[in-house]
Amino acid sequence: MANVVVVGSQWGDEGKGKFVDWLSERADVVVRYQGGHNAGHTLVIDGVVYKLSLLPSGVVRGQLSVIGNGVVVDPHFLVDEINRLRGQGVTITPDNLRLAENAPLILSLHRDLDAFRENANSGLKIGTTKRGIGPAYEDKVGRRSIRVMDLAEPETLMTKIERLLTHHNALRRGMGLPEVEAQVIYDELMAVADDLLPFMDRVWHLLDAKRRQGARILFEGAQGALLDNDHGTYPFVTSSNTVAGQAATGSGLGPGSIDYVLGITKAYTTRVGEGPFPSEQDNETGQFLGERGHEFGTVTSRKRRCGWFDAVLVRQTVKTSGISGIALTKIDVLDGLDEIKVCVAYELDGERIDYLPASMGAQARVKPIYETLEGWSETSAGARSWADLPAQAVKYVRHIEELIGCPVALLSTSPEREDTILVQDPFQD
Ligand code: GDP
Ligand code: IMO
Ligand code: MG
Repeated sequence: MANVVVVGSQWGDEGKGKFVDWLSERADVVVRYQGGHNAGHTLVIDGVVYKLSLLPSGVVRGQLSVIGNGVVVDPHFLVDEINRLRGQGVTITPDNLRLAENAPLILSLHRDLDAFRENANSGLKIGTTKRGIGPAYEDKVGRRSIRVMDLAEPETLMTKIERLLTHHNALRRGMGLPEVEAQVIYDELMAVADDLLPFMDRVWHLLDAKRRQGARILFEGAQGALLDNDHGTYPFVTSSNTVAGQAATGSGLGPGSIDYVLGITKAYTTRVGEGPFPSEQDNETGQFLGERGHEFGTVTSRKRRCGWFDAVLVRQTVKTSGISGIALTKIDVLDGLDEIKVCVAYELDGERIDYLPASMGAQARVKPIYETLEGWSETSAGARSWADLPAQAVKYVRHIEELIGCPVALLSTSPEREDTILVQDPFQD
């Protein structure tokens, strides 16, 4: 029985939400396994828009949805998101939502630290979402996190908070920030404990049992492979592993539980925040793509940087995530362009290279080498079969497949769930 991982193959916002929703009809369980509410996943179902950040996208269809141990959870945000979705008519109860007992919590002091570092005029600006993601993961690997299960043990919670504050208050003193009282954190946590604890579960055990029963598991990645802490454009990355291998670690299943990796891939490229972007078009083309594609961040409303499709990057992330097939999205945004460029290699210090170098300096220096393809004047928007697509659009898709060395399994031609062309069903692989 196939289990599928959905990952972003670029810098995020490729359209993962749409495809998790599309695939969740075929799945029994949907699992988030990394990141947090830095993610913003948009689903459009019969004209109704759902925006999810922390909840797995499967929750909208009422599928069993799991927030795994690899996710960092802002408990107040989670309660608010549950209530917001309930307000849209979505049913969310412990019957269809489970939260890993060993997931680390994001606290107010993590948000403070994230924002302070980003606003400071010294050091490296990453352009984070300021939601405390990085500082929460730092505490996780630093072995001082407060985790979901700690809410169920109030008698020892204060000791854990004091241990955490030994670290944070030293940091805060050094940065000229006021110290935090343990009682403030304790109260902040106790205020949400009753709302969250009913969802708490031994997720590794639940998923193992589901797997044994033959259930199909859909893993929902957040961000994209180029934001991966190891394989991305470090240090301009997020603080988790976003590649598909993390699906196992972040949920408590073994690596053998992954059968198919679907890499969601935008037909051009976007990025939010700072960092290298070789094919960026800070010009009329970028503006065209941004306006046509409504490229504004779901989480921070920041304008996304836009550029041409970069086959060098996707060819590389196909490998680092072990992508089996891609879902190519937003091809409709290219409708009406006379010509379309695709980055096929880089020039680095006078040499042609076919990969993204690892060093920050070299990443900033690479110059894109483009191929120019003919555009199309007809519309691809809303196409539901290959026959509905302009001939040049089909050529573009075929050419991308060749350049990245990976087949297109699905094609998306609008935000709507139904405007999708199926080539190969990841669950039937
Ligand atoms: P995610 O973070 O990967 O889930 O992506 P986002 O939801 O942040 O951003 C993708 C945006 O593109 C959303 O607004 C989607 O509704 C929209 N979208 C997805 N697929 C398509 C498509 O094929 N065409 C167009 N025009 N929009 C799409
Ligand atoms: P989805 O799941 C696009 C970016 C931020 C910043 C960097 C680090 O919707 O694709 P962080 O707050 O994670 O420490 O910020 O990562 N970033 C995203 N960009 N889509 C996302 O998620 C992102 N999540 C984080 O803009 O550059
Ligand atoms: Mg997004």
